[in-house]
Amino acid sequence: MLACHSQLAVVRSTTFGCGVIPCSSSSNRKNYIELKVGRRKNGVSFNRFSKPNIHYRMTVEGSSELRGDGHDGREEKTLTLNPNSVDVNIVQSSIPGATCSPGTVGKATNIVWQECPVNKESRQKLLGQKSCVIWITGLSGSGKSSLACAVSQILHSRGKLSYLLDGDNVRHGLNTNLGFSAEDRAENIRRIGEVAKLFVDAGIICIASFISPYRKDRDTCRALLPAGEFIEIFMNFPLHICEERDVKGLYKLARAGKIKGFTGIDDPYEPPENCEIVMESINGVCPAPKDMAEKVVAYLEEKGFLQA
Ligand code: ADX
Repeated sequence: MLACHSQLAVVRSTTFGCGVIPCSSSSNRKNYIELKVGRRKNGVSFNRFSKPNIHYRMTVEGSSELRGDGHDGREEKTLTLNPNSVDVNIVQSSIPGATCSPGTVGKATNIVWQECPVNKESRQKLLGQKSCVIWITGLSGSGKSSLACAVSQILHSRGKLSYLLDGDNVRHGLNTNLGFSAEDRAENIRRIGEVAKLFVDAGIICIASFISPYRKDRDTCRALLPAGEFIEIFMNFPLHICEERDVKGLYKLARAGKIKGFTGIDDPYEPPENCEIVMESINGVCPAPKDMAEKVVAYLEEKGFLQA
């Protein structure tokens, strides 16, 4: 057990746990987090730290294959602990306020991760690209779907394989049983996050276009992927612009009280705090979808996603 001499600030640690323990440094590193995690048969698959420039060291009780030690200068760090799920029993941190959050907790027991020699890397090589999720968030009518289609078109014309997951479409099938309560939206986004992760594993550039109004839900999806592979795009167009467009006539119905809990009207939208790309009006004019899409593709190019 690692020594920690200062006060415990927040701890949530039962069957799976995570917490924050600001403590006097037991490490000579400036920013560090130390985790001690125990094996469990199912459940937690990742932990996410939400502070910059974290050094991390992780050991797993009774396991030599599951350990991590390193540094990530990015704003967020994701540790993936597959194939075996774990309990986070202790979190020590030199960083007051640092948090880690548990992954999805499954109910099935006696399940074993199946490896295959044809893997993500070989599929990416086959496709001549690197996979990622382009997550487009914003109000209804902010142009998410138009941007998503335009990105997909450009990628297609350049011989890159993408697939679009769109809010309205997914709710016609996979998520047909979900409504728009906070819980249902969370479950909607959780499932999409998992599906998007599968697409990334398939080597495909997955474009996800969802209102996804809650920051926590989007961050949970981000944490499913290795750092850099979740590219969040915020359609930062004010409500009045989205409402003026009212392509589907839903704002009118919401204003008339015929739709309850409509995002932006009587339901919240939490803008991203640290997304990769923000789309905004320029001198009061909204950019055309094609122009925004070119910006996204330029980002992919710059980050090396358009080659294997
Ligand atoms: S999310 O909030 O769970 O991310 P999602 O993107 O899947 O939403 O679906 C949003 C689409 O559902 C909107 O584009 C709109 O057409 C439709 N919709 C129907 N009811 C609502 C509502 N109450 N709030 C927001 N969108 C709604």
